[in-house]
Amino acid sequence: MRSNKAGFATRVVAWQQTHGRNDLPWQNTQDPYRVWLSEIMLQQTQVVTVRGYFDRFLTRFPDVQALAAASLDDVLGLWSGLGYYSRARNLHRCAQTVVEQHGGAFPRDAAVLETLPGIGRSTAAAIASLCFGQRVAILDANVKRVVTRVLGFDADLAQAASVRALWDAATGLLPTGSGVTLAMPRYTQGMMDLGATMCLPSKPNCPACPVRGDCNAAAAGDPQRYPVRTRTLKRSSQGLWLLWLRRDDGAVWLSKRPTPGVWAGLRCFPLFDDEEALRAALPPRLAMRLVMLPAVTHVLTHKDLFLHPALVNTGDDAIDLGAGEWFTPAQWAHAGLPAPVRRLLESA
Ligand code: ADE
Repeated sequence: MRSNKAGFATRVVAWQQTHGRNDLPWQNTQDPYRVWLSEIMLQQTQVVTVRGYFDRFLTRFPDVQALAAASLDDVLGLWSGLGYYSRARNLHRCAQTVVEQHGGAFPRDAAVLETLPGIGRSTAAAIASLCFGQRVAILDANVKRVVTRVLGFDADLAQAASVRALWDAATGLLPTGSGVTLAMPRYTQGMMDLGATMCLPSKPNCPACPVRGDCNAAAAGDPQRYPVRTRTLKRSSQGLWLLWLRRDDGAVWLSKRPTPGVWAGLRCFPLFDDEEALRAALPPRLAMRLVMLPAVTHVLTHKDLFLHPALVNTGDDAIDLGAGEWFTPAQWAHAGLPAPVRRLLESA
């Protein structure tokens, strides 16, 4: 470390106060329900998208009791569009666990929070530090970047032992002394804000960074080198549920895949993370007509996709699922389609 660790935390806290984000809808509260809900939503989704979902969730389910009492269908319905539906199912289970096993109050200790469905070590630490001032480190992807750069931590994060060492190192940077409980919420938010606004993956804004003087990577002029991870993420597999809506005249409903992501920019059947979510997107009259077709395997560079087509003959029903449009056979013949989608269409 180029300068003292106590000074580092103090600088992060001071910078957060004047230059960090302080008006997000889940800030200026120590209500663990709100903080938990926002952290789960923010795990895989950008702040701009989360804002709207967060407000709608709170309006519908103002507290953990309301969420626990809701049906999973209602929760999935409100979640639809946010993706990664296992988050919504865990959210619902977590709310029920808090009500049934913790008397409706979120535990205050990160180690206990971490035992709840959907709450990992970093999310547990975010809730415990932001709401209760507990001295525990978060280490999400953004904060990993900040910490590895500041410390010049170049051990390979593909190794579990290196990740453990990084947790210890992150803990060593936390505020110390008598004001810890007060400092922790701002420190945690400050580390998130540094990662999101200054310490960017390929274009870090070192000249404006409040901890530039502490930063080994900035001193060496090589922040982009961090974090170090030799093998790219392990080859994974993913199930996807494809909603194949077909009108009597042969037209099918296709929407443009978002960027980045699987099949970015291509026209595709609406995709879902599970069958439940797919069914939830359909009006009941159409859900009744759904026929699951045999699954198809599709190999991408870094993952195997298991595709589950769900065919719904809509008759001449002019259903509109929002983003997307009807493509006649003459139109989809010339559209940019993922290969397995084209194969399915051509097999019909
Ligand atoms: N990403 C994860 N947690 C966040 C928070 N509390 N504020 C902004 N972005 C976040």
